Amino acid sequence: MIGVFDSGSGGLTVVRAIQKIAPQADILYLADTANFPYGSKENEEIKRLTLRAVACLRAEGATTIVVACNSVSATVIRPMMEWLGVRQCDVIEMVGPAVESLSRRGVKDAALMATSATIRSGIYTAVARRRGIMLREIAVPTLAGLIERDVSVQEIASVIRHALGKVPCSSSHILLGCTHYPLVMEIWLSAVKACGRPLTVIDPVVAVAEDAIRVHGAQGSGVLRFVFTGPSETVLHHAGDAFGLVNENPESVAKLPFVIASDCKERGD
Ligand code: DGL
Repeated sequence: MIGVFDSGSGGLTVVRAIQKIAPQADILYLADTANFPYGSKENEEIKRLTLRAVACLRAEGATTIVVACNSVSATVIRPMMEWLGVRQCDVIEMVGPAVESLSRRGVKDAALMATSATIRSGIYTAVARRRGIMLREIAVPTLAGLIERDVSVQEIASVIRHALGKVPCSSSHILLGCTHYPLVMEIWLSAVKACGRPLTVIDPVVAVAEDAIRVHGAQGSGVLRFVFTGPSETVLHHAGDAFGLVNENPESVAKLPFVIASDCKERGD
């Protein structure tokens, strides 16, 4: 089973991408909603929560872990991999595949939009520099929270427009460095269109999903389970949207195989 983990709804974008590539893969999604947001937390706290979440996923039978949270990838997992000199393992993180997405497209200068924790780590720019890419870091501290809370399109669009105003003229691409951001891809695209600059928005989740399937394989019975550590309403809502259920039939979201794991905390500690 592939265990996918985020602080809230953002990792659903990675789950959706995995399912597109490998519909048979068994997936367990852990949303640490009791501790959302991660992006404004100190590294030590993010590390503690990560160890707990990974232990919970392992205890539930996950053999490959996808850290579908840039804040965790940038502050905990990627620095650890760099330190150990490990290129690939059964814990998939966001930074490597995201930079690879830019490299594959031949991008030389891009703007990274991300949480404060991700920007503070500086790991994206370091990894990108090694690939000959100039990454301009732009922290968007409130955006993931607004998306998680499902506030109005206008409110989200205004934060995105403000962030786009900080993109240097030399940058040709925007890298979405938080898994919450692709949940509002249409707002990104219309804000970019409105700003009248030829900017391309890169969503790295497909590259992350490809990595996960390369490591884990595509086998399974298509089981999808959800685990929450706290309030689950917004993730349920986003999950309904992400898997195309809510718009067709609001009741059908209740049929998704949700599990509320309030014991996750104790088990992982
Ligand atoms: N989805 C998380 C990420 O990719 C951010 C949300 C949060 O701040 O917890 O960084």
